[in-house]
Amino acid sequence: MRPATKRLALGLATLALALAPALPSPASAETAAPQTTAPQTAAHPGKHKPDNLRELARKLGIHIGTAVDVTALAEEDDYRRVLNREFTHITAENAMKWESVEPERGVYNWEGADAVVENARRNHQRVRGHTLVWHNQLPAWLTQGVESGEIDAAELRAILRDHIKKEVGRYRGKIRAWDVANEVIDDDGNMRQSIWLTHLGPGYIADAFRWARQADPHAKLYLNDYNLEWDTDKIDAYLNLVKQLQAQRVPLDGMGFQGHLGIQYDYPGDFPNVMRKFTDLGLEVAITEADARMVLPVTPEKLARQAEFFRDMLKTCAANRRCTEFTVWGFTDRHSWVPEWFEGEGAATPMDENLAPKPAYTAMLGVRRF
Ligand code: G3I
Repeated sequence: MRPATKRLALGLATLALALAPALPSPASAETAAPQTTAPQTAAHPGKHKPDNLRELARKLGIHIGTAVDVTALAEEDDYRRVLNREFTHITAENAMKWESVEPERGVYNWEGADAVVENARRNHQRVRGHTLVWHNQLPAWLTQGVESGEIDAAELRAILRDHIKKEVGRYRGKIRAWDVANEVIDDDGNMRQSIWLTHLGPGYIADAFRWARQADPHAKLYLNDYNLEWDTDKIDAYLNLVKQLQAQRVPLDGMGFQGHLGIQYDYPGDFPNVMRKFTDLGLEVAITEADARMVLPVTPEKLARQAEFFRDMLKTCAANRRCTEFTVWGFTDRHSWVPEWFEGEGAATPMDENLAPKPAYTAMLGVRRF
């Protein structure tokens, strides 16, 4: 299906959802959630800004999503209320990763992943599966088994195949897109060193996509990585990888640009051109993990700059007909990976710890398609 037709179909599909007898919004059903109706701005006198990101997604004809912290999903009513009012697309931040779903060999824990998929079903949301093969957050039994030599290459390949077929098969028909292979090229443009590359060779990537397609013919299958917003050796390496996979007729559908930025650095103004290099190869694309961290403390000036970063990333997706999804990596500073990973930095998301919208949220509501 041509992307434009697809986008129209997506638009019509979401429009149909909008016209369907809507479930009572959790927000309207209970105490008022944070006020998120953006004031009429002078820039659009009389032109109604969308009231929330879900309405914006319908206007733009794309999915607007967020990573989901499953503990907050289960325990925080306000988190769940805002999540389901604002987003048409959700990604399990950690619950679908191998260390989460198979903590011991042959012992599965699907609770968190099932909760994300069920929340999506109940709230008219689509799901991004994250992630099938990655060098990180692997269960100890696997990494130690390989390091000790207990698991040889042949067994490792069988283990990877079984993992992909089991997890993708469990959610067959319920996942719009899978991050099949995550962060497989390093920032120098070389294949990233991992147990997969070392023991299986680069062919593990094509294998992963083929196994995923066999397990769910409907899901869109993506590569996904960070630091792809600038034109670097990493971009050239990914373009070559994509062309190789396409030449081998590997079922690769899309490229995910994670979009982890820091406002203390320049904004990657070339991002639209970089994205187009992949859509020119016939791929669909998505911004899969957008956030814009800052060196603390928070100031009005930093919040204003952060708003420009989120606005411009969303504009990059909205302006490319093959961009299907814009997902933030957590929608509230209450639950963000950044402080644990970047000492002295934080406030990376569009809402504060109290779920109040920040300037970044309001700036995104003002984005138009072209
Ligand atoms: O589950 C354990 C828990 O049992 C233990 O008590 C706790 C002690 O600290 O750790 C918990 O594991 C943490 C895990 O998230 C689940 O919450 C790890 O310490 C922590 O390092 C891990 O961080 C995640 C990180 O990936 C790991 O690389 C972040 O939450 C997550 O946001 C981040 O997401 C990645 C994407 O998957 C891929 N792209 C980059 C992005 C940011 O790193």
